[in-house]
Amino acid sequence: METVKVDLGPRSYDIFIGQGLLSSLGGRIRSTGLHGRAGILTNDTVGPIYGKQTIDSMRGAGYEVSTLSLPDGEKFKTIESMARIYDWLLAEGFDRKSFVVALGGGVIGDMAGFAAATFMRGIDFVQVPTTLLAQVDSSVGGKTGVNRPLGKNMVGAFHQPRLVLADVDTLNTLPTEEFVSGLAEVVKYGVIRDAEFFRWLEDNAEAVLEMQPKALAHLIKTSCGIKAEVVGADEREGGLRATLNFGHTVGHAVESLTDYTGYRHGEAVSIGMAVAARLALAQGLCGPEVPERLAKLLSRFGLPTEFPKNLAPDSVIKSIAHDKKAEGGRVKFVLPTRIGDVAITKEWNEEKLTGALR
Ligand SMILES: NC(=O)c1ccc[n+]([C@@H]2O[C@H](COP(=O)([O-])OP(=O)(O)OC[C@H]3O[C@@H](n4cnc5c(N)ncnc54)[C@H](O)[C@@H]3O)[C@@H](O)[C@H]2O)c1
Ligand SMILES: [Zn+2]
Repeated sequence: METVKVDLGPRSYDIFIGQGLLSSLGGRIRSTGLHGRAGILTNDTVGPIYGKQTIDSMRGAGYEVSTLSLPDGEKFKTIESMARIYDWLLAEGFDRKSFVVALGGGVIGDMAGFAAATFMRGIDFVQVPTTLLAQVDSSVGGKTGVNRPLGKNMVGAFHQPRLVLADVDTLNTLPTEEFVSGLAEVVKYGVIRDAEFFRWLEDNAEAVLEMQPKALAHLIKTSCGIKAEVVGADEREGGLRATLNFGHTVGHAVESLTDYTGYRHGEAVSIGMAVAARLALAQGLCGPEVPERLAKLLSRFGLPTEFPKNLAPDSVIKSIAHDKKAEGGRVKFVLPTRIGDVAITKEWNEEKLTGALR
């Protein structure tokens, strides 16, 4: 088993990563000092596969457990689902000492976290991420929330979990496209902060794609380590945390221009990273090896690197002006300066971006 600590003073917590960990969940939660009743929040896909093991482990550690299963899908990441969760917590008689366990991917994690952030002005929660994206990204860092018709993740709160348990065995039932999509965020960590990890991914792509448990554990541990470090230095995105948006400016535009149906998040981010690297090269910020190695690794993982032919570059430029991270109408781009380091800049050239999109 691997452990990564997220260092946030009184809000610090551990991420446990390894095989066969789910059965140890109850005991590990006990060790963090949570004593109240447990509400497991899951969905209709994950619940039937991992619900029983989770409940057994919690009951085995002496917890009283209730479960709510929501319908599966990003389209249920809504205020309406939140109302269902609050009403369920109230009907079950949950109090301020109770806690929520998120069993599922990022959709469940974001909603469970937001419910915990707001129910009775804040209760504890635990993340049990079951997608690669959730294990390397969304379960760590404390961003929680839901979507609105006019924008994704527009309503939410910062609320850190008390513990994260990533059992790599749960990835065995994950659809391949979901696994591959999660790899985009993994590659991102290498580009923004860790050249050695990027090289490891290049050298071990085969083992990763075969989902060898040891390779997965290393990949998740390193990814969480980088996210933990970044979040530890900048919990509320004043500066460094913005580097995690590498690939996301154009990625979000691609998602929004295709109504969130054309591409999975990771696929859109993959395109966004490749575009950002081409833009960085065009602006003289990095050498040609950066976009080359990046595109090669992404393609190796089966991720797209070309901007969709049916979208107009102009529409991207319009779309990114609406990005929620725009300051005074000017989006900051995260651009690689080499593999392992990035610069955040408002100084990006529209023509060069158009070129990078072609
Ligand atoms: N909070 C953050 O910092 C953060 C960061 C990145 C993304 N997110 C959010 O995460 C969400 C995306 O998360 P996601 O990619 O995990 O999607 P998801 O939660 O929708 O899961 C993807 C699919 O896989 C299924 N699934 C999950 N685990 C499974 C398993 N072990 N076996 C079989 N099927 C399984 C789910 O039911 C779903 O159908 C988005 O809403 C995004 O906004 C949040
Ligand atoms: Zn992302």
